[in-house]
Amino acid sequence: MRFNPKLLIPVCLLSGAMLLASMTLIQQAPKEDEKAVNLKVLPKNISHKDLDRIMGQWASSLGVKCNFCHVRNEELKKTDFASDAKPEKLMARKMYLMAAKLNKKYFKAEKDSLNMMKLSSVNCYTCHRGVAHLEAATWPKRGGGPGAVPAGPGAQAGPGMGGAPSPDKKP
Ligand code: HEC
Ligand code: HEC
Repeated sequence: MRFNPKLLIPVCLLSGAMLLASMTLIQQAPKEDEKAVNLKVLPKNISHKDLDRIMGQWASSLGVKCNFCHVRNEELKKTDFASDAKPEKLMARKMYLMAAKLNKKYFKAEKDSLNMMKLSSVNCYTCHRGVAHLEAATWPKRGGGPGAVPAGPGAQAGPGMGGAPSPDKKP
């Protein structure tokens, strides 16, 4: 068979695309390999993607950033996600266990493929509604109105909530 010059362009394009694809795969590999080393309540074999999704849900349910629960290692100049130094992180573990128990005991919750209790009925947002500090929440007044339990971000520093604006909201 004679070499057809017309084929040269598509062949070059195809191999170029394949090279690019393999390069991005190699680039992503180290990130995916970074295994979580200090999981006590979430499944140890959880994927990077699932862990990321859950962390995002916890943060947005409480209206906080990652550093509300995770400390920064100043020497390494990055967040030390495995460290248990912040009490908020320990509280979050308890909260997960509590929510899992509520779902199991009072609702028809199932476990997912990783044997993790699904927070399908009661989850962090059910109670927190974008507010981290709930300890000062009081009973709502009859008929709602002023004095009712505030919902949503920003409400936590309001009068009667006893909460100073949280310093941990910075990135
Ligand atoms: C409300 C508290 C809270 C927030 C907010 C939070 N995390 Fe976490 N994170 C935890 C807890 C608790 C664990 C440990 C879970 C366990 O013990 O199974 C954890 C574990 C991790 C781990 C695994 C660390 C290891 O090696 O064991 C990573 C990575 C992580 N979080 C990233 C994030 C990122 C990124 C964000 C922001 C999007 C975030 N977290 C926000 C509480 C939080
Ligand atoms: C059934 C309601 C409920 C659910 C569900 C719930 N929480 Fe909470 N959470 C509370 C209450 C109430 C407090 C305040 C407790 C106190 O300090 O007296 C609190 C406090 C916290 C705190 C401490 C905040 C602070 O003031 O320092 C963290 C962190 C937290 N919750 C994380 C979570 C996470 C993460 C989830 C989901 C896995 C979750 N919570 C689910 C009710 C709930």
